[in-house]
Amino acid sequence: MTQLSAAQKQPAEGALKATGSKALYGGKSTRRITVRDITAAKERGEKWPMLTAYDAMTASVFDEAGIPVMLVGDSAGNCHLGYETTVPVTMDEMTMLSAAVVRGTSRALIVGDLPFGSYQEGPVQALRSATRLVKEAGVGAVKLEGGERSHRQIELLVESGIPVMAHIGLTPQSVNAMGYRVQGRGEEAAHQLLRDAKAVQDAGAFAVVLELVPAELAAEVTRTLHIPTVGIGAGAETDAQVLVWTDMLGLTGGRMPKFVKQYADLRRVMGDAAKAFAEDVVGGTFPLEEHSVH
Ligand code: KIV
Repeated sequence: MTQLSAAQKQPAEGALKATGSKALYGGKSTRRITVRDITAAKERGEKWPMLTAYDAMTASVFDEAGIPVMLVGDSAGNCHLGYETTVPVTMDEMTMLSAAVVRGTSRALIVGDLPFGSYQEGPVQALRSATRLVKEAGVGAVKLEGGERSHRQIELLVESGIPVMAHIGLTPQSVNAMGYRVQGRGEEAAHQLLRDAKAVQDAGAFAVVLELVPAELAAEVTRTLHIPTVGIGAGAETDAQVLVWTDMLGLTGGRMPKFVKQYADLRRVMGDAAKAFAEDVVGGTFPLEEHSVH
């Protein structure tokens, strides 16, 4: 890993590192985190990290590392299930992956993503899908995409006792309509993003993801809302930051978006280990006597 200079280590202006016993990251509590803890963190001005997870073992590593919120994102489509986009992901797949992540964790709040086609028909379909993730997988909250266009779904889920994390800006389930472009550039687009942010807050969402949005606009949304904003490619001023774990740990191949910081090179580590194993097998140096039973 490259060493960071002192200047690079400086937190963004306004960042507040929580150190109290209640802090979401680094706090003392061992019970499972709830959406009420997330709301309280915004009131304290505390920043927090969120990572995606798609399986029990990876989730258990992040849980032990103290990551307070994990998203079983439909990015599982590209990062775990081998699809090209998130569009083909099904409710059966999200339920199975979410249940595994819940089983692998004891502290993190687990948020299950509602996949494309599982809530767009309307509030009743959204409630049926979200209920499945809560009852069968055991998630503590669900996430769905869309601002004003999804506010009726959010209202019914919240009325029914299911906490909702909203997701606006770039919404990858709409890739066929919007592509993968920065959202909220220009006056009208910025106004629409602010309207979307207020709509999901008014509908009762406990937090909102801002994906690929200009940093200044994300900062304005964060100042305007009383619910926390979770940024991905949205600058340094959001209340929380989320990254897709396979990007963050260098397992995803190919070109990474500018907003990804890579903290490890798992693709190289795993590839090197696989080659070493193969060479041991073909060269007869594995297994040795110490690996054998008699
Ligand atoms: O599916 C996902 O992983 C997401 C995050 C990128 C926010 O929606």
